[in-house]
Amino acid sequence: MTAEKDLHALLATIHPVLREGEFVYVLWPHGKALAGGIAAAVREAEGLTVVLPRAEADRLGLSYDFVGAWITLEVHSSLEAVGLTAAVGTALAAAKISCNVLAGFHHDHLLVPVADTERALEVLHELAADSGRPRPAAVQVLRSEQPADRPAILALTAAAFAVSPLTGLPVEGEPEEVGLLRRLFDCADYLPEFSIVAVLDGEIVGHVISTRGRVGELELLGLGPIGVLPRLQRHGIGSALMKETVVRANAAGERGIALLGDPDYYARFGFVPSTSLGVEPPDPAWGVHFQLLPLAVWPGGVSGTFRYAGPFNEPSGVA
Ligand SMILES: CC(C)(COP(=O)(O)OP(=O)(O)OC[C@H]1O[C@@H](n2cnc3c(N)ncnc32)[C@H](O)[C@@H]1OP(=O)(O)O)[C@@H](O)C(=O)NCCC(=O)NCCS
Repeated sequence: MTAEKDLHALLATIHPVLREGEFVYVLWPHGKALAGGIAAAVREAEGLTVVLPRAEADRLGLSYDFVGAWITLEVHSSLEAVGLTAAVGTALAAAKISCNVLAGFHHDHLLVPVADTERALEVLHELAADSGRPRPAAVQVLRSEQPADRPAILALTAAAFAVSPLTGLPVEGEPEEVGLLRRLFDCADYLPEFSIVAVLDGEIVGHVISTRGRVGELELLGLGPIGVLPRLQRHGIGSALMKETVVRANAAGERGIALLGDPDYYARFGFVPSTSLGVEPPDPAWGVHFQLLPLAVWPGGVSGTFRYAGPFNEPSGVA
């Protein structure tokens, strides 16, 4: 992807996405080994500052003052882009919202006081709209599903799969992905933090689930189904759900994510044919459509056949 340098284009498509949870700044104790869950770090002569989830800081007994919400500007900004941070900071300051900015290689990230989260998102959306280009529809909150979300998730999955992605033809009756999802919610391999919804203006518009899968004794994630409401497809919601899954999987120390899907779509997230990593698809006929994303702690030297969570293997299971 080419990094955007033009400020006008950047502002039109800043695409703010709220990361789940609350984050704090702490001064890392001298000599203490770095723990998992650190989301950012700055080394200074006086010591090492880290940003990490509040729950993690509490668990480690580290003290903090500022408790922030983490908003990622999903636009792929060039590190050479001039004025993006200033424009965002000015708009937030005008709304009396303080903001700490972190720049990663790909994106800018804002930490705003938790109490100002909703207002900050509104200000960022207004900034995008005011830039004179159409406002992207995919303004979202991504969060773990809650029990009350289930009916909406099943309804959107039925709508997303009403036309079969395999045949391109309308499906008669309830798409089998809906039944699969019901069974995945109830199975032993269900992982709550990997059932993620995208919310737009209070409506659940997208969902992705990953459940426990295995190659021999090695535990991996099996991703799917993923679905977005048809009227909002091609607006970046599916991509945001995929990226959130990868971020969460790395943070949780997962080894890799397997899925069945179109290589043209999933290659953009780093997926490769599973066989190139020694993993055979559950059905040999799936070939290059069965893909794997090796995560930061992928062990290498893996060899065997991938097994999905139980519900995929029941008569009407699909992948
Ligand atoms: C597949 C799906 C989840 C993607 O979500 P989305 O929000 O529409 O996708 P995004 O907007 O993030 O990505 C759009 C990009 O992906 C491409 N894309 C989307 N679905 C694709 C597919 N099945 N094959 C190839 N490319 C695809 C689009 O052409 C577009 O490319 P571009 O950015 O170069 O223009 C969504 O379209 C959906 O629910 N489809 C129906 C159900 C389905 O097929 N699920 C996946 C089964 S494996």
